Amino acid sequence: MDVVKEKQAAAEAAALLVEDGMRLGLGTGSTVAFLLPALARRHLDIRCVATSVRTEEAARDLGIAVGPFSDVDRLDLAIDGADQVAPDGWLVKGGGAAHTREKLVAITAERFVVIADSTKLVDRLHGPIPLELLEFGLASTLRRLGTVTRRAVPLSPDGGVIADYTGPVGDPATLAALLEGTPGVVGHGLFPPGMVSTVLVGRGREVETLRFAVH
Ligand code: 5RP
Repeated sequence: MDVVKEKQAAAEAAALLVEDGMRLGLGTGSTVAFLLPALARRHLDIRCVATSVRTEEAARDLGIAVGPFSDVDRLDLAIDGADQVAPDGWLVKGGGAAHTREKLVAITAERFVVIADSTKLVDRLHGPIPLELLEFGLASTLRRLGTVTRRAVPLSPDGGVIADYTGPVGDPATLAALLEGTPGVVGHGLFPPGMVSTVLVGRGREVETLRFAVH
């Protein structure tokens, strides 16, 4: 299995879903890195927002128009990678520490399409679950969360501390609710199936389409 080729195949299939005039959300990561040149080659008239400075710079270098997200209230489509994809459509994202912005972009889009190589398919979600935490009160938040490790990466562009929850995942909805109810937690990398329209999975030379909810 060539994981790199699978990422590329999934990303190129997703690029074909983009149409002229669309407002598009661009994710972050090595799979999205294949999406950007595939999009640029299509010379479409699109307006994009990016989930990270890395993606924004790479897209601009390829001639893709990227603007600020602060004044965009709707997107037609968002395309992003994932670290884990469960059979029921739950995702873990944030391996690249961009999960808070990625969730905001995904929820703004009419369709959220995930691109992944086949190693990302799992039977059950497992840790680590990426977190973004407020620096204010950090020691208190870490103590209350318990099994969390701070990641040795810079603060997020929004000033958040990147960390990983390493305890048991169990039911993802229960863990997501617990994290969302914990003061000091800005965001977490659990994405519910209701947010995910389609997952394009590279499998050998093929791209498999998994369909989930449309929001
Ligand atoms: C970044 C992410 C990425 O989409 C996820 O980590 C997958 O990355 P890659 O495409 O490099 O495997 O969530 O925060």
